[in-house]
Amino acid sequence: MINQREQWGSKLGFILAAAGSAVGLGNIWKFPYLVGENGGAVFILLYLFGVLVVGIPAVIAEILIGRTARKNPVGSFRSLTRGNPFWVSIGFLGVLAGFVILSYYNVIAGWSLGYIIESLKNVFAPMENPEKAAALFGSLSASARWSVFYSFGFMVLSVIIIMFGVQKGIEKSSKFLMPLLLIFIVILVMRGVTLPGSMKGIKYLIKVDFSAIRPQTVLLALGQAFFSLSLGMGALMTYGSYMSKKDDIAGCAVNIVALDTLVALLAGFMIFPALFALGMQPEQGPALIFNILPVLFNSIPGGYLFRILFFILLSIAALTSTISLLEVITAYVVDEFKISRKIATICFGFIVFLIGIPVALSFGLISDLKIFGLNFFGIMDFLASNILLPLGGLLISIFVGWVWKKDQVYSNLREGLKISEPLLNLWFFLIRFVVPVIILFVFLSSIGIF
Ligand code: PHE
Repeated sequence: MINQREQWGSKLGFILAAAGSAVGLGNIWKFPYLVGENGGAVFILLYLFGVLVVGIPAVIAEILIGRTARKNPVGSFRSLTRGNPFWVSIGFLGVLAGFVILSYYNVIAGWSLGYIIESLKNVFAPMENPEKAAALFGSLSASARWSVFYSFGFMVLSVIIIMFGVQKGIEKSSKFLMPLLLIFIVILVMRGVTLPGSMKGIKYLIKVDFSAIRPQTVLLALGQAFFSLSLGMGALMTYGSYMSKKDDIAGCAVNIVALDTLVALLAGFMIFPALFALGMQPEQGPALIFNILPVLFNSIPGGYLFRILFFILLSIAALTSTISLLEVITAYVVDEFKISRKIATICFGFIVFLIGIPVALSFGLISDLKIFGLNFFGIMDFLASNILLPLGGLLISIFVGWVWKKDQVYSNLREGLKISEPLLNLWFFLIRFVVPVIILFVFLSSIGIF
């Protein structure tokens, strides 16, 4: 039977699309504030360890499953296990995670879109301290009209791209947006590190202070590596399902991980030197880029322009991730229910937008509604980052390391592969023993068992 599934036009197109999924709010919003809250360079070191030992092997494993089965996560597990209900439900968990993550991720992405407009209107210019920006952020995010409007706008952008399909939508947009993102971030890093007094911030990022390690730092670093690489929910599996058997999975995985890590590090070098140069503290938490940065730009020559550039950068990063989340859901619906891509994308984009409304409102109207001390946004983030993704990642590594026949794993991975046999064996060893043990440890700790 002829396989009619769409494919990436080129290997570069696949790498940029997958790197686009990985590079996102996780790199530019979450990574810098985690670095700031967890002792600077030492957090970065642990993060790099997680990326190298868990990240690369897990990325290879996910792409391999997708490319072999050529299906969405549910269909992939069904075809590789001959319909084993347990594994099929793991694929389903991935699609569910797509719903959960996209619904809250899209709200923050909407804020970044809104902040482009606020920056254009120059509302931050008269603000001399971060408290004023924080107050503005509080009132904007609490305004149902403002945040629902922009999250709708952002969803429309994602829907349009996904409607055009793999090559004309995802690949084409990633080939344009990813280089743009790299150019913008390099410009902003150069602005930051050339400010007088920026050296302190650079030192903070490279001088490792081991006394700052707490047990929790290790967990946070690993969890972040996971989220940042889009692991554990089938996004890379779905993108892998459009990959040619002639291309080298391991080589692509290394490129994707390298790009993601590079952007996270650059985001650190974009923010901290400027922060230190202007005498501010690094421990600002999640509010860092919405409360502190807008005001920070006031003290920088050319700040008006750089501020706009920054929020465009943030929106681009978010967009290449939201499309990958929407593609997981779309691929599932299109494969399984034979609905047309256009209709599936519009319907499910709209449904996810609706689920996102309470998330947006949880910063305003329904902010008092709390379960276990978390608002609706907090619950969605906790469910995804601390439960669904680690659980998915754990099971995916167990599947590849223990359940799938070893000769099948090897022969499928060898297609197009350019790495040597000993490296292939090292990968298998990591995915079989090291990755599941580390994830299990992180998972149990994050739900409070250790
Ligand atoms: N990796 C994305 C980021 O860092 C988030 C993401 C997670 C995207 C899971 C897709 C799947 O922002």
